[in-house]
Amino acid sequence: AQSTESEKYRPAFHFSPKAHWMNDPNGMVYYKGVYHLFFQYHPGGTTWGPMHWGHAVTRDLFNWEEKPIALYPDSLGMIFSGSTVIDKDNTAGFGKNAMVAIFTHHNQKIEEAKTGLHQYQSIAYSTDEGAHWTKYKGNPVLPNPGITDFRDPKVMWFEQGKKWIMTLATKDRITFYSSPNLKTWKRESEFGANLGAHGGVWECPDLFPLKSNGKTVWVLLVSINPGGPNGGSATQYFTGSFDGNKFTPNATKEKWVDYGTDNYAGVTWSNTGDRKIFLGWMNNWQYANQVPTKAWRGAMTIARELSLENVGNDYYLRSVPVKEIGPLLKSVYNRTNFSIGTELNLSSYIKSLNGKFKLDLGIAKLEKVDIVLENRDKEQLIIGYDEKNDNYFIDRRSAGNTSFEKGFAKKHVAPRSSKSKNLKLSLILDETSVELFSDNGLTVMTDIFFPHSYWDTLKIRTSSGVKLSDISVWAIDLKKSVD
Ligand code: FRU
Repeated sequence: AQSTESEKYRPAFHFSPKAHWMNDPNGMVYYKGVYHLFFQYHPGGTTWGPMHWGHAVTRDLFNWEEKPIALYPDSLGMIFSGSTVIDKDNTAGFGKNAMVAIFTHHNQKIEEAKTGLHQYQSIAYSTDEGAHWTKYKGNPVLPNPGITDFRDPKVMWFEQGKKWIMTLATKDRITFYSSPNLKTWKRESEFGANLGAHGGVWECPDLFPLKSNGKTVWVLLVSINPGGPNGGSATQYFTGSFDGNKFTPNATKEKWVDYGTDNYAGVTWSNTGDRKIFLGWMNNWQYANQVPTKAWRGAMTIARELSLENVGNDYYLRSVPVKEIGPLLKSVYNRTNFSIGTELNLSSYIKSLNGKFKLDLGIAKLEKVDIVLENRDKEQLIIGYDEKNDNYFIDRRSAGNTSFEKGFAKKHVAPRSSKSKNLKLSLILDETSVELFSDNGLTVMTDIFFPHSYWDTLKIRTSSGVKLSDISVWAIDLKKSVD
């Protein structure tokens, strides 16, 4: 709510810390009905600094509650990104069902003095559902073998091999390690030579299986900075198989989780069974330290459910808002099967929604469409589909304050990967962000923007006489949550 200057731009249902700087989501784990989110946090300021793990919880993935800081820097270094598992069988000896966090220690003293390698992996555990954490005395559990960028462990239990698998970012490669107990780690293999995007360093990977038509397909997410499809940071992914030792991709070219500029370092929650729920940091290293919020800096994307879609000979990730959004939606406008002139003006339906709503739009053929949002400051955000280039776009060039970084004012594009002959767009807006899920989540774009006032005009523009199969506007009402 934009009640005070320091709270201006605060999103309602996207997580943002009450104060100070936040980057990557960390250690996401589901346990006893609670989704835990830890995050890269600098409690000493609103720019990046000595990293802690902040902590927040939610039961419905939309109503968030911030908790005390979980992990503080120590003599081994700052606490960089990592993951959390539930150790059901007490393999580590910290207790049955202990929460075990596996993270990178980043030692700034070593880095500055250049006296050795400054990143290595450590663990900490909690036996009270994440309220208190104890660092393991034997840290680090995985010393640095001679690689400058050696970080962001994502750990999962590999049932077939009865062992833990760690997926680690190692410069611009991924290295897999395995362990019986989370304390001793063995190198398995390396992935990434001669394939994928290499415009920057690889960070924050994730490896997990998904079912597609009864078949298990493994997905490997790899964030890269810079080198994203629209500049700066972004997350590429590969699909393939994993045998406990090696990941074998079924295509050498990278695909992108999200084509917008503002979804980085995203990974999935652990301990959610077959359900795979993803969330990313809704920002980009290109300007993250400069975005014009006051009390805090950084927000997360909404939680998205991942599945796979077979397109041609390849698999594509499908990301859609988690179904928990359902109870929060309140219909304010819906119309089906009708032709519009060149413009449909829906301004009266969004005027009182303070820039927070969901819009769904279906067109029975592949037609150019512009979804135009404007405010009383004559600022404009355009989201749409361009039939000539067969791509989706978000144009934030005039969407408000862009002066804080020269590359911010841009139009971003995303190729359409669906083979369907009709268009389906779904947008979620929360004050300073738009998340576009097109073709049921086959192409996704997330962008942030900083308008001087709320959007109060909404117009749909297309060619004259085009038939809309469906258009709906929904208010998003947090009080109606399942909680
Ligand atoms: C990604 C990243 C990680 C690192 C963390 C530091 O955004 O650079 O690789 O662990 O941020 O805050």
